[in-house]
Amino acid sequence: VYGNQQQASVAVAGRIAALIRGKEAKGEKTVLGLATGVTPIGVYAELVRLHKEEGLSFKNVITFNLDEYYPMQAAAAQSYVTFMNENLFSHVDIDKSHVNIPDGTLSLDEVPAFCLEYEQKITALGGLDLQILGIGRTGHIGFNEPGSAPNSGTRLVTLDDLTRNDASRDFGGKSNVPTKAITMGVGTIFKAREIILMAWSLKKAPIVKKAVEGEISGEVPATYLQLSDHVEFVLDEAAASSLT
Ligand code: F6R
Repeated sequence: VYGNQQQASVAVAGRIAALIRGKEAKGEKTVLGLATGVTPIGVYAELVRLHKEEGLSFKNVITFNLDEYYPMQAAAAQSYVTFMNENLFSHVDIDKSHVNIPDGTLSLDEVPAFCLEYEQKITALGGLDLQILGIGRTGHIGFNEPGSAPNSGTRLVTLDDLTRNDASRDFGGKSNVPTKAITMGVGTIFKAREIILMAWSLKKAPIVKKAVEGEISGEVPATYLQLSDHVEFVLDEAAASSLT
């Protein structure tokens, strides 16, 4: 638990930078699982600063984003492709061929094969070294909404009503928010060697309490994280304020 979200974001970015530099020193690539939303913005800002001011290179980094709305054009303002470019990729030296984001432009028929390939690509690279997560007020991680299975893989899902409400501002009204998304599964996330879930502000305190102290259940998918010994929650004081 950190005093504020800025301190916490700098600490998480520092962990990511140390991982990248450590692997680079061994001649290895780093495979990162990335999240979108407001939560990781400070982490990405600090990574950009580390790149510009302290020589952190992303040349040996391969990334897999958790999710994308479906359907979604890559160039749309609300796409996670646009989000990642604006917040990180356009400001660092990552090779664009190393960036993987679920494709919101596929036809329905093409989605299952794409999802399988996404999983296989991660596996072929030796798995995710680190997955960063936010948490939705439904308890979702990625877009694994209530009802998701612990062994679920990358797939097309239906977004929860509360998630669509929370996204409505970005889309200029709830009716414009897609009803579906492609997301890595709970099982995909679990296979990462290290998982860091971040949450800031009082708004997240109730769901953080459920995720950490509640009964493990598919009704709150983040509770599955209690079953892993390589998960860490990084919180600001407000998000941690309901924990006993
Ligand atoms: C984003 C994602 C979601 C968000 C969650 C929290 O890629 O997978 O699980 O992390 O909805 O969103 P924010 O950070 O906007 O509160």
